[in-house]
Formats: sequence, structure tokens, C-alpha cells
Amino acid sequence: MSARSKRQARRWIRGYRRAHEIHERMRRHGEDIFRSERFRSMKQYLQHGEVTVYKHSVNVAKASINLADRLHIKLQERELIRGALLHDYFLYDWHIPEGQDPGTLHGFHHPKVALRNALAEYELTEREKEIIRRHMWPMTLIPPRCREAWVVLAADKWVSLLETLHIYKGHGKTDQNGNDGN
Ligand SMILES: [Fe+2]
Ligand SMILES: [Fe+2]
Repeated sequence: MSARSKRQARRWIRGYRRAHEIHERMRRHGEDIFRSERFRSMKQYLQHGEVTVYKHSVNVAKASINLADRLHIKLQERELIRGALLHDYFLYDWHIPEGQDPGTLHGFHHPKVALRNALAEYELTEREKEIIRRHMWPMTLIPPRCREAWVVLAADKWVSLLETLHIYKGHGKTDQNGNDGN
């Protein structure tokens, strides 16, 4: 094996281990959320392009962990992950017009709907509520008041851009029992 191939193999192994570690951290802190039928029902709704709201929420949780690790600042990881997973828990198809300007209305209102849905199912901490409530800032006017909410806000914007540009790809809608995690 050439030196270059060895380097590539080492990089691939590092990437695989890192992905596995992030997956484990998400499962550890969000096990009940991943088991929830309502959470899995987000596989029926598209967020950006062919990426479902389910896949988007997982992408944002992963990106939040990555960003938090890079920043080397003290954060409550459990709240960061749970808030990220639930930040878009609005549970409807925002592409179906209900008002005159559904896109804009959705942008303003979905954090409130997501918070209401999440509170109906989980006991949320103040940080988790703040993450969901403020993730659309500056649209929501009041900025986040904790680091965890700032991290999820930044991760959400970054992930949304990558999904919109089809750099992060999805596989379209599945039924809520689909196993491919999209
Ligand atoms: Fe959102
Ligand atoms: Fe989002």
C-alpha cells in the first residue's frame, strides 16, 4: 500500500470513528426522542430539497456537537442535543399553502409551534426551550440567552445552507417507519 493510500485509509478510519462517536452521543442523550413516533413522523415532511425535517434535525444536532467541540467552551451537551433535535418539531408540511404568504408565516411562527409540540411530549429545561424558541433569530427579534442556543442557531443556518445547495443530500420522504433515517 502506498503512503498516500495509507494516509487516506487513516483519514477514513478517523472519520468513521468520529461519526460513530457523534452518533453514540446523540443516542445517549436523545434515546426517548428517537423512539417517539411523532419524532419519526417528521420523515414524512420535506425541509430543504429532498431532505426531510427528520434528517435536517439530526443534521443540526450533529453539526451542533461538532461546533461545540471545536469551540472548546463549556456547554450542557444533553440540552444542546435535545434542543437541536426538537428545534423544528412543528410537525406539518410547511410547503402546503395555508395563508397568503405561508413561507414567511412559517419562518416567524414555527419555533412557537415546535416548542408547544415539544412541551406536550417532554419536560424541557430552560435551555432547551431557549434553543427552540430563538433558533430563527434575527427573525424572532429577541436573541438567544444561552450558549447552547447560539450554537444550535449557527448550526441550523449552516446546515440549511448546505441542504439548500444540495451539498447535504436527502432521499425524499418515507413513511414514519422507514429505516433509512431520512
Ligand atoms: Fe426552524
Ligand atoms: Fe432547522
